Order: sequence, then C-alpha cells, then structure tokens
Amino acid sequence: VQKEKRILQEAHDYSAKLYHYLLQNLEVAKPAKAYLQSRGLDDALIEQFGIGYAPPRWDTLTQALERKQFPASEMEAGGLLSKRQDAEGYVDRFRDRIMFPIHDVRGQTIAFGGRLLSDGQPKYLNSPETALFSKSRTLYRLHEARSAIRKSGQVVLLEGYMDVIKAWSAGVRNGVATMGTALTAEHAAVLRRFAEEAVICYDGDDAGQAAARKSIPLLEEAGFRVRVSLLPNRMDPDEYVTSYGAEAFVREIIEGAVSAVKFQLIYLRKSHILLEEDGRIRYLRDAVRIVAVRNSPMERELLLKELAQEFGVALDTLKQECLEYRQREK
Ligand code: UTP
Ligand code: MN
Ligand code: MN
Ligand code: MN
Ligand code: MN
Repeated sequence: VQKEKRILQEAHDYSAKLYHYLLQNLEVAKPAKAYLQSRGLDDALIEQFGIGYAPPRWDTLTQALERKQFPASEMEAGGLLSKRQDAEGYVDRFRDRIMFPIHDVRGQTIAFGGRLLSDGQPKYLNSPETALFSKSRTLYRLHEARSAIRKSGQVVLLEGYMDVIKAWSAGVRNGVATMGTALTAEHAAVLRRFAEEAVICYDGDDAGQAAARKSIPLLEEAGFRVRVSLLPNRMDPDEYVTSYGAEAFVREIIEGAVSAVKFQLIYLRKSHILLEEDGRIRYLRDAVRIVAVRNSPMERELLLKELAQEFGVALDTLKQECLEYRQREK
C-alpha cells in the first residue's frame, strides 16, 4: 500500500507539471488562458498556484502516464483516469478543464479540481476520495498558507479555489478553502494547531451564510475565537476583490469581520419581521438565547445592553430572560 501511494503521489506531481505546461504552451489552451485572464489571473498567479489545463482530447494524460509506465488501473483508482464506458481501457478523467492542483500539508500534489470554461455541470470536477485525498481533512493551499497562519495566529476560511487565489493576490496569505464540502471537526483540528482565531469568509449568498452558521460551533468547539465576514450583495470574496479592490477587501471584509455572536444575531434578523410586535418579541427571545450560551458574563451583559437599547426594553428584563434560559438549559 505504501508503494502504491508513492506511485500515485509521483503521478500527481507529474500530472500537475504536465497540465501546467500544456496551459502555458499549447495552442488549444489559448481559450483557457484567456478565460483565466478575464478573471484576473495573470501569469504570476498561474505560476504561483501551479494552475494548468486538461485538453479536450480523451487520452492526453492516459498516454502520458502510460509512457511514464504508471499502471493505468492504479491511476484510475487514484482518480486521474476513468474506465472507458463501452470498451476495454482507460480515458482521462479531466477534459477541457482548468486544473487547480490540490496539495497535502507537505506540499505534494494529491488531487485536482477542474473548472469548465463555460456554463455546464459540474462546474468543478474534483478528484474522488483516494488513498491520498481525504476531503474531510484537506484544505486547499494549507501547505502555502500555514506559515502566514501561524505568524498571524489567524486563519481565513474560504469556499473555493478562486476565493483563495484572489484573497492571496489581495495580500491575504493566510487563506485556505474547504472546496465545496462542509467544514469538519477534522479540518478544525488541523487548523487549530496553527492559529487561535478563525475568520469565516464564505460567499454572501444564502448557501454560504448557512454554511457559516454551521461552521461556527464546530470551530468554537475546537477552541477557536471565531469571526465572520459580511459580504454585500451576495458576492463571493473573488467577486468582491474584483469589484472593490484589495485594500477594501482587507479592511472591510477581513479586518471588518464581526464576532460570531454578532453574525448569529444578524443572521437571525433575516427570519423575523421586526416591524411587527410579535416578530420583535420572537426575535428578542431567540436573540437572548444566542447570548445566553456565551460563557463570558461580561460578553453577555454587553450584548444584552445593546439589545435592550435597540428595542427599548429594560436591561433587567433581558437579564431575567437570559438567566431563566441558562438555568433551563443546564
Ligand atoms: P461556488 O459555487 O461558490 O464556486 O463553489 P466558486 O468558487 O465561486 O467558483 P467560480 O468563481 O464560479 O469559478 C465553491 C467551491 O465549491 C466547490 C469548488 O471548490 C468551488 O470553488 N465546487 C463548486 C465543486 O467542487 N463542484 C462544483 O460543481 C461547484
Ligand atoms: Mn511555469
Ligand atoms: Mn458558493
Ligand atoms: Mn463562490
Ligand atoms: Mn466565485
């Protein structure tokens, strides 16, 4: 098994180099190059992130791996090749896609994410779970970001490839991504070795905000202090950097990230109609519950004060409500 893993490892490093070379040199890769340019990825970024291109042909990688005498069946199990549908043999798993190499924490290539150049499904095709690639543990770019994460004591969690790359180009070097799967306790444990603060910077759409809400307790249980970025107009970090620039991204989105509780309160607002009295009452009750589970008495008091002021309710009343909830939940 160790030997098979090593061979698969070598095959991935080789494939990453090949895809990258093809992007930079092939005539048929010109549209891919133009697409990357249109999204703001210049040559420096393409080099930095080792981005490549899998041509439309069925056998580019299949042939190349065969020439290098990598066993096809192992390459199929490793997610680089697919079995042919109606005949013997193998074909490339990734075709006509922009290739983002995924590394383990030591920097070895263990998987790929491949993006279509136009609309279609799936938008990103990722490597399957293999002996090398565990989706519940791997974070995109952790191998490059870890020193910045350690230095700053902070990790920025993003959703995807383009977000990490654009954040990086905006100067945010401590960003990693879960690549479309939900954050797991394993992810959190891996990251906690390097930092004590996590900034959740997911997409501003409903899916991203719901995922942020689910990630908060997971990160807090791992021991993180958690903050959450608020992206306007359902934008994702990539779109924000493109629209508003690097400085605004760092200042408003990363430095301006709110505390986990603040985010939960903002999120809660969306499901209540505050113009009506019973909507306000229900919001306040749910809000007090969010506050009630905070461990710090000082934090609880400050948050309750803000709520009391905003809704014109006596602080004592909210404290009472909070206390009762805490006692009930014990
Ligand atoms: P998004 O749908 O937010 O895509 O998915 P994106 O990152 O903004 O991609 P662009 O900007 O359109 O290129 C977030 C992440 O989820 C994973 C990818 O890792 C993606 O970056 N994903 C998404 C998949 O694995 N497969 C998909 O079909 C879609
Ligand atoms: Mn190069
Ligand atoms: Mn998204
Ligand atoms: Mn997105
Ligand atoms: Mn995007």
